[in-house]
Amino acid sequence: MVFGAKIFLLIAFCHILRFETYTCALNESKKISSVHSAESGKYTFLVTGGYRPTQDTLTKHLVSIRGPKEIKSFGDNHFCGGSIISPKVILTAAHCVCKRKTRFLKEPSKIIVVAGTPKRCEAANTTQIMKVDRIVRHTYYNPKTLRNDIGILVLQKPIHEDGISAQSINLTLSLTPYSTVCTVVGWGRVFYNGPFPNQALYVNVSVFEDSYCSSVTKKFAYGMFCCGDIYDHQRDSCSGDSGGPLICNGNLTGIVSFGIGCGTPNTPGYYTNVSSYIDWIRKNDSKKIRPEILSILANIFIGINVV
Ligand code: ARG
Repeated sequence: MVFGAKIFLLIAFCHILRFETYTCALNESKKISSVHSAESGKYTFLVTGGYRPTQDTLTKHLVSIRGPKEIKSFGDNHFCGGSIISPKVILTAAHCVCKRKTRFLKEPSKIIVVAGTPKRCEAANTTQIMKVDRIVRHTYYNPKTLRNDIGILVLQKPIHEDGISAQSINLTLSLTPYSTVCTVVGWGRVFYNGPFPNQALYVNVSVFEDSYCSSVTKKFAYGMFCCGDIYDHQRDSCSGDSGGPLICNGNLTGIVSFGIGCGTPNTPGYYTNVSSYIDWIRKNDSKKIRPEILSILANIFIGINVV
């Protein structure tokens, strides 16, 4: 084939992929929903190894974090997941709330949180669209090393929790033993660079040993753990799942953080370890003025008084 024709085909292919990815992939989602069971083994090409349970009990803890405006239709501005940890507080990844690959925070007005919507592209009567009041990311979040990839969105108004479509999740307070089987829920891409599903997908992965996690990437550090499935490398989270929950024994144990591609053989997915950040979460999840700020204010006040 002539060189020009190859370039043309490549450009055309990229456009088709972009179109699939950025419009709501409803057709993809129909294909995926024909795969009901994680055990059916039919999901080659779904990186997530994803499945939809007959009883969806976990999506109520998940929110979709979106850009301020839809591109063409409802839900096509989704970029990250998050978990409801109290009616006004969403726990997510720092890289979801910072401007691309920096430590600079996005503006609260540039983010909306959508709860009570198991189908990303369809506003249901349970859908709650929430505005953000305050964004916090870990002080030592490092976009290069991805250390401390944790952030909080404090909402302007509380989410109405009905226990069915939207509900807070408890945090895991202590270390989760190796081999524990946990579930990731999200609207992340169904394979590397593939489309985003309409309905949230589940994937079951187990907790790997730290020594294995660090043997795969030098990025592995305190506050992280890694998960996967030794028999099926396709069981993994992917982009768009970031910030979303990894749930072990019903509690929020991990935050989707990073991976090497998605579902790549012999590379697990990496998660922020919620139990390492309990104090940080408690300090930052209230609307109270933080103690550091109070002391700065007091100093200024005293300073002015002295002068
Ligand atoms: N960083 C990705 C995001 O922004 C998620 C990565 C998870 N990747 C993985 N292979 N487990 O959505």
